[in-house]
Amino acid sequence: MTDLAPEITRAAQRLPDQFARAIADPAAYADLDSWHEQLKVVRRDHPFARAELPDYAPFWVASKFDDIQAIARQNDVFLSGLGALASKEMAARVGSEAQGFRSVVGMNEPEHVKYRLLTQSWLAPKNIRKLEDGMRATARRYVDLMAAAGGELDFVRDIAVHYPLLVVMSVLGVPPQDEPMMLRLTQQYFGNNDAELARRGTMSPDEVARGLMETIAEVSDYFRAVTADRRRSPKGDLASVIANGRIDGELLPEPDSLGYYITIAFAGHDTTSSSLAGGLWALAERPEELAKVKADPALIQSLVEESIRWTTPVYQFVRVAARDAEVRGQTVARGEQVALCFPSGNRDEAAFDDPFAFRVDRQSNRHVAFGYGPHQCLGMHLARMELAIFFEALLPRLRSLELAGEPRRTTTNFVGGPKTLPIRYAMR
Ligand code: HEM
Repeated sequence: MTDLAPEITRAAQRLPDQFARAIADPAAYADLDSWHEQLKVVRRDHPFARAELPDYAPFWVASKFDDIQAIARQNDVFLSGLGALASKEMAARVGSEAQGFRSVVGMNEPEHVKYRLLTQSWLAPKNIRKLEDGMRATARRYVDLMAAAGGELDFVRDIAVHYPLLVVMSVLGVPPQDEPMMLRLTQQYFGNNDAELARRGTMSPDEVARGLMETIAEVSDYFRAVTADRRRSPKGDLASVIANGRIDGELLPEPDSLGYYITIAFAGHDTTSSSLAGGLWALAERPEELAKVKADPALIQSLVEESIRWTTPVYQFVRVAARDAEVRGQTVARGEQVALCFPSGNRDEAAFDDPFAFRVDRQSNRHVAFGYGPHQCLGMHLARMELAIFFEALLPRLRSLELAGEPRRTTTNFVGGPKTLPIRYAMR
């Protein structure tokens, strides 16, 4: 290849700015239907293309299901470390300051797998079965609350944000009375680009960065105390596993244990709430699908999987090329970023039959909402179990369901979903 050749390839494969903005800009995801319309065009005309926006470092966009899997699988070539795309300004502000914790999701080999193994068996299907009774009781409490509310409520605000948070808090072993504080912190963390959720309520980059750092500091203080407590008196919870876990014979340094708690608490909450609300939203708009799953509760497992595919609450994760690498015939240069666009992969016409249809009985639903390969979600069994238990508690009692207003979504390019979901319903 001549020196010129990569430039020529690049020029041909440059992603038009309009689409690059749709991938990078948190506001674009608040109107997810038009985002999906744009991504249809991206998959068709620019399936793997390079974005060059003045305020962002150049980034490649993986919009196709197969490419997302291929890139995520090659974790020696495409390294983790960044969350979602950040503008140069935000990356400079948060990057230099956010040294307080390290998360397993951002680690690479050889250490990543060691950190992963710490919690993998605790989160395995066999072990989490012990949570089932508690989860059923919590689900029943929220379904009772729906019944008592008299037929109308905001499903996100009143139900969906609370139930998964209480579950993940029970996983960690922290007291349920801390739920309001934990809710505020997770919403501020993932909602830092959403003026209604952000800590400081303003969108100036300075304030967003400062709000994020304050949130991280507050949650770190909380979990620092948890580490001290579980080292003194270990229990059977996941916090004890993290506090007393050893890597190469050593207890975890503080930034790593804090990062682990924060990842479990935050990643295990908003994702699951959003999938639950996203599934219920889809059912509220499709009485025939609701009738199908009510008539055959064996479909709840496929309803759960379809709700997660449909919602895909993790909008993207970024990888960085460790060396020049080829994807779909194009060269990603060493050091360049690649955004894995999970919601686009999950609507890829080449991977799913009628991807824009929500089907409670969809078969072989192999989606990428949990990622793929070595970093695939550690909490996926827990998330599936939570959703199934909630639907099992709700559906037999639900006589009718419809939207009672226009739902709204969070403004974020990272982890998001419905922010409000007004529903009207009848229950037994
Ligand atoms: C529907 C719910 C959920 C979705 C859609 C989801 C999605 C994801 C995705 C896409 C990744 C991969 C990130 C990457 O490839 O870089 C991931 C990783 C992870 N998730 Fe989840 N997640 C969910 C629930 C949970 C829950 C309930 C927990 C914890 C109890 C959890 C803990 C984690 C952890 C620890 C990782 C990092 C794994 C690693 O890097 O090896 N997640 N999740």
